[in-house]
Amino acid sequence: MRKHIVAGNWKMNNGLIQTETLIAELKKQEKTSDAEVMIAPTFTNLWHAFQSTKQSSIEVVAQNMHFAKNGAYTGEISAGMLKSIGIQTVILGHSERRAYFNETDESLAQKVDTAIENDMRVIFCFGEELSDRKAGNEEAVVENQIKNALFHLGADAFKNIVLAYEPVWAIGTGETATPEQAQDMHAFIRKTLAGKYGNDVGDSVSILYGGSVKPNNAKEIFSKPDVDGGLIGGASLKAEDFFAIVNAF
Ligand code: PGA
Repeated sequence: MRKHIVAGNWKMNNGLIQTETLIAELKKQEKTSDAEVMIAPTFTNLWHAFQSTKQSSIEVVAQNMHFAKNGAYTGEISAGMLKSIGIQTVILGHSERRAYFNETDESLAQKVDTAIENDMRVIFCFGEELSDRKAGNEEAVVENQIKNALFHLGADAFKNIVLAYEPVWAIGTGETATPEQAQDMHAFIRKTLAGKYGNDVGDSVSILYGGSVKPNNAKEIFSKPDVDGGLIGGASLKAEDFFAIVNAF
């Protein structure tokens, strides 16, 4: 059985007090599904969030990290720094990182390597732009993103990799991929993985969908056989909405 995962990407939202308040509200919610629950607060609140979720089933994860071990990279955060405060999982390759901070498949491949070397779990994000989909190129684009950033890895590394398909046109726009569009792409991703690494890897990697998942559409999206969870932006900032999505499984 693949793991079900629902991860909340808080992006650049919530200072310390809001982080405390939201975590307190999250801890009051009842989890009725088997999904693993993750939240990704901003760097400055990771330590506090980690401490305050210790006795809960919520895992605190990072939104990004640098590929180097340490050194002259002003403003950056390393894998070792994250691990030193207990963080075991990092989101890499979010489309906002690619679009606004020039992250490329090549730099992401380095970050993925660093995470794997440090025994961290990676939620690796990718997805096509609207123009790609309009041109019918979505599968080719997604295949390249996966190949370029991940296909140098050995099969073993995929124990620590979760994929997140996030069509750029659906992120923060209120426009969601239809459950069928999500399923078709997830099946394609799984086939691509199996083609390179065999069915064991293809069948075992969790593939999350991200892009305007809300309480009112989560159930239908999660009902698809190749959708193993969600990466949630806007709706993860409200405890009831986030848990309605967690419990949609
Ligand atoms: P959204 O963001 O749910 O607000 O569309 C998803 C994401 O960026 O991961």
